[in-house]
Amino acid sequence: MPEVTRRIGLSLGADICWPICYTEILDRLDLRVPMDGDTLRFETRRMTIEPFDLRETVDHSVVIDRLTHWYHPTREWIKKAVLLDDVYVFNNPWSVQSMEKHTAYAAMIKLGFPVPDTWLVPPKEYDPQQDLRDTLERYARYFDLGDIGRVLGYPLYMKPYDGGGWRGVSRIDDEAALRAAYEMSGKLVMHLQAAVEPFDLFVRCVGLGPQVRMVNYDPSAPLHDRYTTDREFLEPEDVRLLRDMTLTINAFFGWDFNSCEALRGREVWHPIDFANPCPDSQVTSLHYHFPWLIKANLRWSIFVAATNRPMQMNLDWGPFFEAVDEDMTLGERLSATAAVAHQRFQSDRFREFCHEHLSHLDEVTHEFFGTDVARAAVREKVAAMYPHHEIEEFTELFWSRIQDWRGEAPADDEGVM
Ligand SMILES: Nc1ncnc2c1ncn2[C@@H]1O[C@H](COP(=O)(O)OP(=O)(O)O)[C@@H](O)[C@H]1O
Ligand SMILES: [Mg+2]
Repeated sequence: MPEVTRRIGLSLGADICWPICYTEILDRLDLRVPMDGDTLRFETRRMTIEPFDLRETVDHSVVIDRLTHWYHPTREWIKKAVLLDDVYVFNNPWSVQSMEKHTAYAAMIKLGFPVPDTWLVPPKEYDPQQDLRDTLERYARYFDLGDIGRVLGYPLYMKPYDGGGWRGVSRIDDEAALRAAYEMSGKLVMHLQAAVEPFDLFVRCVGLGPQVRMVNYDPSAPLHDRYTTDREFLEPEDVRLLRDMTLTINAFFGWDFNSCEALRGREVWHPIDFANPCPDSQVTSLHYHFPWLIKANLRWSIFVAATNRPMQMNLDWGPFFEAVDEDMTLGERLSATAAVAHQRFQSDRFREFCHEHLSHLDEVTHEFFGTDVARAAVREKVAAMYPHHEIEEFTELFWSRIQDWRGEAPADDEGVM
């Protein structure tokens, strides 16, 4: 059978550790996948930034993109590559560009998910614009922040409608604090959102294609301890619900790779932050969970490249809305919308593919994360983030957590569902 090489592009910025591990493991897998009369081989290439002709042919099957949300030349190259060259990219650049947290809230409210009560307020200040004065004089209504605070109750959260990375987020205890925070909010367009308090669990669900990992998250801990190493902290019913919620959101927005945060307050899971389509992938935050992420990424990207999975360029929301009706409980809604998500992600075909072609991935990954190359990748990331005198200490900390994972693997695998 003729050998055909499928190329996986890595569109990178500040990422250090995961691309090294991803590429090393891909090479060690030494794949030869028979597909439609060919034998498929796989290689990675790091994308470079340079002028491009819109008509130039692009020789990539898949691009794993980490730049689109802030670096526009790459985003536009990707759009051209999807439209003209049938390249599959995760995540969908049009969706990343236009679907902020606000849209995500609105869509999930329409599906009947318990998003906490949320208001949007016009900003305190504006950039000068030609029609601004006329527009505001004619149409802007005076409003009393205190009224909104009374409707939502305290504490509440003020945060940007298109938030990310905890930028501009404040927890507000009373009306005076609300007024003060608004005064300071400048040009940001803010949401005011009822706090889910008290909550007994904060879970971050990382989704990659149809694979989901749930992490017990401690937002009050320093960065290196936020992703706790707890396992089996959820009842099967919660696992099902959070998985369905994550897959629904990700399939709905065409985000193959996204993380969703949910808080459990008074027995109800509230999704609070689920528009994160360039999730943290660094060993310095994921540590123990890092090998899972690498494996999940390899499985999904290899599956996409090998099967020539068609990219869904346009989002199609109708089937999600049609799947739910008013009398359904949250669990029923979620299983109905997750069924649409599984179709979109080709979950059954994916599972079969992994069993058939990637059964050695667990073993290869396990072995790789015991090597000097893996340790050097961890150290390189730590060295880029920590002051000189902390490099050894934190390299050792993250490395030891990965070794804890090795001690338990492969029992950890929610990977192939
Ligand atoms: N409604 C809420 N109830 C309780 N805590 C919240 C709420 N909204 C935000 N938070 C807290 O603030 C943090 C940042 O808010 P989030 O919506 O996740 O913004 P970002 O997109 O910047 O991560 C959350 O991780 C959580 O700790
Ligand atoms: Mg968040």
